[in-house]
Amino acid sequence: MSERIHVMISEEQIRARVKELGAQITAEYKDRPLVLVCVLKGSFVFAVDLARAIDLPLRIEFLGVRSYGEGTESSGVVQITQDLSRPIASEDILFVEDIVDTGLTLAHLKDLFRTRQPRSVKVCSLLHKPARARVEVNIDYLGFTIEDKFVVGYGLDVAEKYRNLPFIGVVERD
Ligand code: IMP
Ligand code: MG
Repeated sequence: MSERIHVMISEEQIRARVKELGAQITAEYKDRPLVLVCVLKGSFVFAVDLARAIDLPLRIEFLGVRSYGEGTESSGVVQITQDLSRPIASEDILFVEDIVDTGLTLAHLKDLFRTRQPRSVKVCSLLHKPARARVEVNIDYLGFTIEDKFVVGYGLDVAEKYRNLPFIGVVERD
């Protein structure tokens, strides 16, 4: 069985969109300091590009999460495998996600973070797959809405593979 990757969103399209998102975030937070919370592992590529497109005083935190579930389906039960390095009370938090699929991960994280009393919590996701939504999560800043296909690249994986592709692609098996 061989695998080919079909390009869904090109490197150039991603670069242009990340720039726009960065400008939008910069304008909306004015000069308020921002905490980017990069949800590992899938968001690591998007988060570093997005951080460089935002012109605000910011710090970046990494949150390790593992979702219990079978294969490619998220169960919604999220385990924190690596927590933030500092408290976030009274700070403006922006979750940076690779993709909102069922929405269960982000819904859970938003609930969890509420107890830490940040000033505000918003969400920036590169991708959204509305066809598979199981709970509604508001995405404040969204890169692209995609159809119901399993995608890889630009941080996203299948069994830990393809995170280093510079574009978003679909795995085709024949
Ligand atoms: P959720 O279903 O919204 O909870 O999605 C949780 C996580 O599942 C995402 O942050 C991704 O890491 C992963 N995921 C969902 N859809 C895809 C996909 O198409 N490709 C790769 N990872 C995915
Ligand atoms: Mg993720």
